[in-house]
Amino acid sequence: MNSYTNEQIADLVRPDRVHHAVYSDPALFALEMKRIFGRAWLALGHESQIATPGAFFTTHMAAEPVIVVRDLEGEIRVLVNRCTHRGPLVCHEARGETRQFVCPYHGWTFDPTGQLRFVPMESSYASSLCGREDLALAHVPRVASYRGFIFASLAAEGESLVDFLGPVASSYDDIVDRAPAGEVEVAGGMFRHAYNGNWKLVLENHIDTVHPAFVHQSSVHAAREQPDAESGDASTGGSRAGATSFADIQIRQMRQNGAPPAVWERLGIFAGPNGHGYMGDYHSDDRLVVAMANPVFAEYRAALSARVGAERATQILSTHRFNTIVYPNCSFMSQFRQYRIVQPIAVDRTIVNTFSFRLKGAPEAMFRDTVAFANIVNGTASEVLTDDLEVYERAQQGLSSGLVDWVYLGRGLGGDVPDSPGLRRGGMGTSELPMRNQFEAWSRYMTAEDATATNRATPRMAPSASTLNKPL
Ligand code: FES
Ligand SMILES: [Fe+2]
Repeated sequence: MNSYTNEQIADLVRPDRVHHAVYSDPALFALEMKRIFGRAWLALGHESQIATPGAFFTTHMAAEPVIVVRDLEGEIRVLVNRCTHRGPLVCHEARGETRQFVCPYHGWTFDPTGQLRFVPMESSYASSLCGREDLALAHVPRVASYRGFIFASLAAEGESLVDFLGPVASSYDDIVDRAPAGEVEVAGGMFRHAYNGNWKLVLENHIDTVHPAFVHQSSVHAAREQPDAESGDASTGGSRAGATSFADIQIRQMRQNGAPPAVWERLGIFAGPNGHGYMGDYHSDDRLVVAMANPVFAEYRAALSARVGAERATQILSTHRFNTIVYPNCSFMSQFRQYRIVQPIAVDRTIVNTFSFRLKGAPEAMFRDTVAFANIVNGTASEVLTDDLEVYERAQQGLSSGLVDWVYLGRGLGGDVPDSPGLRRGGMGTSELPMRNQFEAWSRYMTAEDATATNRATPRMAPSASTLNKPL
């Protein structure tokens, strides 16, 4: 493997281009796991996934297997899923509820705070092991939530989660504020998909407004041949309840991908700190007007207005935000209640887990629409997602060739304008500003001095696909 000096790494990112090695060199991938995934706040999930004492789920932070658990006092902890005896995962379940984690090898038993509570045949040791701090499950050093969304960082020091998110925190506000009861919850299971390509490709694609008309051309054409839907809009949660709502949502979304270039150019494309960004103004007002005539939407709006007042409800429902990127491991759709967590496996292998949310206090028909939308856009049988996966893999194949050095990201360069504090807006909705912004963050993380770095001393291998592909 190549090794890189910071100067060489900095040279891989230019104002209008990046070197293809950032997508294809395993040595850079290993450094990314240490310097980006080892430093940033990483999205792990939502508090509703561990609503009760002892509830847990397992996941990975870079190579580190972790258990996200609510202890018996109600505190959320992120424990390193590695037995302190001889090293195996102490928990192999994707999720569950427990009072103790029992290592499968020799039965050492840890409580949900990570403390070692029981050691079989403990008398063989010179002194008692239970309760020893050095034999407790290790803790991930920083854990924090923003409006119920759980994050953790492998770095002992760094900016707060709120500072890390900056103005992009407003996308979390957008999803939670939509709930008439003021809370959301994960519901309806999870979609998992994988592709043979670099992790950055999905984060770039989700905020790429030029690709839909081309990558999704076949489904756009198919949707145009269908009769118009009668009413409703998945974006706002209102569609007529019944057997045809899935098709309605599907046709609308697919047609939207084929919107004329002028529509895409008018979109707001925003870049924030740390590589974050979002796409705004996705659905036009006339679609909202249709939804507002829908009885389910009217019921929902009334419930929301009852809590926050009619004026505030209008303000909340007037936000039409599509994808938000929280760099480096999250892409979510606040308006559509979809949350995607990106897990790099290798330089050319990535897994994406997608969760749906229920707006507490909203009519149940809205959640059915959310699940329908999830199937259309994020489901493993989606006619939209499969197009994207195909293009990621073709991109990876092209980027893995060695004769052409650069990837060009110059669309809209020089046209960015300052927006509200902490944000830049693309001068055109099709600007590649978000990709340039992600690489600015990439370069900063990858060349930062060790003093600001993670407490991990050496790059680690990514987890194997087999440990991530366990059943749910
Ligand atoms: S390795 Fe876990 S109890 Fe021995
Ligand atoms: Fe796409």
